[in-house]
Amino acid sequence: MAKITVEGEEPFEVEAGKKLVLGIEDAGIDILHRCGGQMLCTTCRVEVLEGEVPPMSDEEREGLEEPELIEKYRLSCQIRVAGDLTVRVAKRSSEQGIPPGPRPDD
Ligand code: FES
Repeated sequence: MAKITVEGEEPFEVEAGKKLVLGIEDAGIDILHRCGGQMLCTTCRVEVLEGEVPPMSDEEREGLEEPELIEKYRLSCQIRVAGDLTVRVAKRSSEQGIPPGPRPDD
């Protein structure tokens, strides 16, 4: 299990190997994932403030597209939790006034 801290929220545990976006959502945080994990929307992006995440794949880089986004963010639908992390969620359903989107596959 890994301890995940989303800025502004209580820390929670996520099993290793689980997609970060699903861990965040299952903790009751209304992170957006508008394309269902297809790397098309970037709404699931997070800033990694602490902890190690695997290197960005070429596909994730293409999904983020803009250099400013690539520099600052990771797509939480592409990260499998491997250890403790502290992240800042960029977009929440309640703040944007739109539904989160289809749940990404496990
Ligand atoms: S890029 Fe759309 S859910 Fe991750």
